[in-house]
Amino acid sequence: MDTSITKYAIEDSFPIVEINRLAIPERNAFKPIYQMHKWFARRASCVFRAILLGCMKPLPLDDKGNPLKSGAEIIMEEFYKDHTNDPDTKGKVILDPFMGGGTTVVEALRLGCKVIGIDLNPVAWFIVKTEVEPVDIDELKASFRRLSERKVTWGEKSVKETLLEQYKTECPCCGAGREEADIIYTFWVKSAICTNPLCKKEIPLFSDYIIANKSPSIRYSPDVECPECGKSFDWEIESASLIAEPGLCVVSSTYSAGIGRTTARWAFSTDNEVECPWCHKQVKAKAKIPKPKRKKVPLTVLLCPHCYNVWQWRGDLPEEVNCPVCKKRYIPKTGNIPKSGWFLCPSCGHTDRIINSIRSLPEDKLLPMRPYAIEGYCKVCAGDVYEDIDSQQINLDGTHSKRRTKNPKLADHPCLITKNNGKFFKRVTPADLARYQRACEIWQKEKGNLPYPKQKIPWGEKTKSGLIAHHYLYWHQMFNPRQLLCLSTLLKAIDEEQDQALKEMLLCAFSNSLNDNNMFCRFAQPRNHLVGVFARHDFQPKADPLEGNVWGGKFGHGQFSNYWNSIIKGKQFIEKPYDTGQVSQIHGTSRDKIECEGELKCISSTRIYSDDEKTNFVITDPPYAGNVNYSELSEFFYVWIRLILAKTYKIFAPELTPKSEEIIENPTRGKTSKDFENGLIQVFKECYRMLHMNGLFAFTFHHAEGAAWEALLRAICNANFAIQSVFPIHSESENSLHLMGKKSISYDLIHICKKRQEMSNQQQVTNKRSWAGIRQEIRRKAREEIKAIEAGRYGNDPLSPADVNIILIGKCLELYSRYYGAIVDHEGNEVKLKDALEEIRMMVDQLVTTEQPLPSELADIDPESYVYLTCLCDRKEVKSDDVHKATRGILEPDSLIKAGIMIKGRAGRGRSYEVKQPLERFHALLEKFNPPKQEQQSLFGELNPQKTKSKVYFIDYVHLLMALAEGGENVVPWLERFRGETPRLRAACEYLMSRNKGFTSSLKKILGLIDIGPLFNTR
Ligand SMILES: C[S@@+](CC[C@H](N)C(=O)[O-])C[C@H]1O[C@@H](n2cnc3c(N)ncnc32)[C@H](O)[C@@H]1O
Ligand SMILES: [Zn+2]
Ligand SMILES: [Zn+2]
Ligand SMILES: [Zn+2]
Ligand SMILES: [Zn+2]
Ligand SMILES: [Zn+2]
Repeated sequence: MDTSITKYAIEDSFPIVEINRLAIPERNAFKPIYQMHKWFARRASCVFRAILLGCMKPLPLDDKGNPLKSGAEIIMEEFYKDHTNDPDTKGKVILDPFMGGGTTVVEALRLGCKVIGIDLNPVAWFIVKTEVEPVDIDELKASFRRLSERKVTWGEKSVKETLLEQYKTECPCCGAGREEADIIYTFWVKSAICTNPLCKKEIPLFSDYIIANKSPSIRYSPDVECPECGKSFDWEIESASLIAEPGLCVVSSTYSAGIGRTTARWAFSTDNEVECPWCHKQVKAKAKIPKPKRKKVPLTVLLCPHCYNVWQWRGDLPEEVNCPVCKKRYIPKTGNIPKSGWFLCPSCGHTDRIINSIRSLPEDKLLPMRPYAIEGYCKVCAGDVYEDIDSQQINLDGTHSKRRTKNPKLADHPCLITKNNGKFFKRVTPADLARYQRACEIWQKEKGNLPYPKQKIPWGEKTKSGLIAHHYLYWHQMFNPRQLLCLSTLLKAIDEEQDQALKEMLLCAFSNSLNDNNMFCRFAQPRNHLVGVFARHDFQPKADPLEGNVWGGKFGHGQFSNYWNSIIKGKQFIEKPYDTGQVSQIHGTSRDKIECEGELKCISSTRIYSDDEKTNFVITDPPYAGNVNYSELSEFFYVWIRLILAKTYKIFAPELTPKSEEIIENPTRGKTSKDFENGLIQVFKECYRMLHMNGLFAFTFHHAEGAAWEALLRAICNANFAIQSVFPIHSESENSLHLMGKKSISYDLIHICKKRQEMSNQQQVTNKRSWAGIRQEIRRKAREEIKAIEAGRYGNDPLSPADVNIILIGKCLELYSRYYGAIVDHEGNEVKLKDALEEIRMMVDQLVTTEQPLPSELADIDPESYVYLTCLCDRKEVKSDDVHKATRGILEPDSLIKAGIMIKGRAGRGRSYEVKQPLERFHALLEKFNPPKQEQQSLFGELNPQKTKSKVYFIDYVHLLMALAEGGENVVPWLERFRGETPRLRAACEYLMSRNKGFTSSLKKILGLIDIGPLFNTR
């Protein structure tokens, strides 16, 4: 390491505003390489590119050691440059002990670094490996062709044809007798069995009977006048329909003309004649016809709960409708689910929780399920059938070139779905059921020869309620037999690929497509597409699952062929990487080209073992308490891919993912928050051991209310690192941050740490530092930083107050963490991180608050009293959701409850806190200030040796006096007793007077007595 470098860019500052701006679009659409496979809670890569550059780029200093530029400036200057031959980055060793989906690994490789990427989870390891593995794009494409054409083991046709064949249906417009249209989605519904013992009927669990909603935009001529009757109407020249059967398209008698056309009547014709909707005479198109415009027409696809027909309503949907087939009346918006998780039996009126119905089934039985609708695609109706016709153009070689034109016969096609791209919703017919049934039969026959997971689902935090309680006992039960047949057939064919690297690419696409090909997916409105099982980080069972098309045709989400395209795009990205915000996305051809250097390990980072390698920088994203259950969730993929990978890699030999060494909070596995903290300490210690003396340790960590951040900070300190700075990154735009009201902001914090010299116990004793002294230093440092921020250290764009707050807390933590373990209070006791953090938050709040600051006499009060005075004194109640906002995040509610300032609200079932009034605290305060007699204490002391005298907060003095004054008791002796506090008490009383009118009379009393205090002295 270059010893002349004294500082790196990131040690000075970070381009917070710029990187936030880049992170927002990136979180919505990850760069192609990060879309090759789902990983939970991926981070925006621009954050890591900026951290890496900030760690490796030196901060240029003048002769006096002052920076010539700010770190933030340097990072942004470097951000879009090509670093292929940058000596500052090339060959530097970067360690990520929690690589997850590989953000650090990929971004570091792009900068020419050598990477050591580690994750305990084999799925993560596999994902990162496929991301960075070099493969030839042409060979990749060839492997896919080979796979498509490979013959299946149980039939005559190729994999592609066989899989597509499982999802065919008859087009209701043009397909009579021929099942040639593709099924995009199959809609399923589970049924509960009525738990009323006298009923026991099956109740389909529809929450409503609306299948889809859409308002397509069509062309029309407004206000065409009928020459016969003189009335005007909209002449529509484009059709709008989501179903293919005109007979099932019902038009509302009112408000059906479209959005903004309220009461207009309308008629549709593409000819030059149309029937007037008023007098029903034919109207011819003449020159007078107004120029066409566009309008949106609201359409709703409905299911009839009586006859299971699928039909369409045009116009605003009324409360009740009549089925056009069976003519029965029903309420389309009300199904059999009165509230989430409950059913209502339409036969007997009984209502119960769905889970109770499941419990009444034998343990190995799932709720019955049946398909009730299909979304299909007909290429003929879409006009996607091309005919080659000779064009007039003559080529150089004398031939006529062929021109492709859309299906010329479409003009006389009767259907209305062309504008819907040939997509339609339809009912499930006996032929559809028979096709599904055939797939099930083949599966029963062939499953012995096909690879699929047979493991039981282990009991876990995420599996016990989502899966096991719902009787999903085996992983394969998350799929229906048709999905199992297609997936296992595909997997078997992938395994036949000879080239291991290409096989793994195919497997990666396969694994990713599992996301969307299981019975835990659902149809999401209003966008009308499939949403996969991991839209949330759990296994939430669905009452109305959606089945996709495993191989996939032209439309639909989550198909294998789409996921394969993601692999190709990911690999193309490696060849021409780019960053969000770049003018042209395809920058030069060679910029930051990835070359694979380093190693990926699948082990626990609590014991890395290797010590030959010295690491320049550790850059990572540690797990966040119990937020994401990586090992439990990824098992869903693991059980499938190990069927192939176990043959090649030892780490895939076990039946299930490794869990015992996972760093996480997980009650079902008995992993507490302490275990989480200890795990982090162990890994951080390994990082310490691997890191160069001058190296930096940088990582992101989610910041939310609660103790996880504290645990993390403690872990850093305990592993002998000192925090240098903390930078906030968030997903809201700066603008909305400034406007943000109640909502608490979710932050990722970037922590920059350095190695602290290890101190012996002896040194710790001799190097004791007083907290009071450090607090002075902290204040000074924070003031300096405020000045630097104002002078533009973080760029020209203003930081939001919340951002400034966090940066300042980080700067304050620097001093605390530098002397960690050696800081003592005035009684010589070690100052714990929790207490220091509270005081730091309070000090920062004092420095940045402009509205009604506390009088200077109160600068050094305890954080609890500070929060009471500045935030709570004029409130009686705080909603739980607002408590952090209300207390400005200085303290956790628990600290305030412990101090007796607040209690959990009785109203609203604990969803609020009550701020205690002085009189309500009277009894408790008396006890505090007049502790029980000595002998009593020792009596209790023996029984309860832990019991220590409770801490006295500054606000206790004030409240006791107020309570006495309010209750008409004598305040004077107490004023005498608190004499040393007189100036602070007076300041507090005056301050409170200005904040809370309700306190005026008691405060006046006290103030009057304080001022004449000495008079009484003489008594
Ligand atoms: C927050 S994720 C990393 C996410 C990553 N930054 C990304 O963008 O995808 C944390 C990772 O830590 C891993 N992990 C948990 N315990 C571990 C351990 N003992 N050793 C190594 N990795 C561990 C988890 O498997 C998970 O992938
Ligand atoms: Zn058709
Ligand atoms: Zn007319
Ligand atoms: Zn009906
Ligand atoms: Zn019933
Ligand atoms: Zn048609």
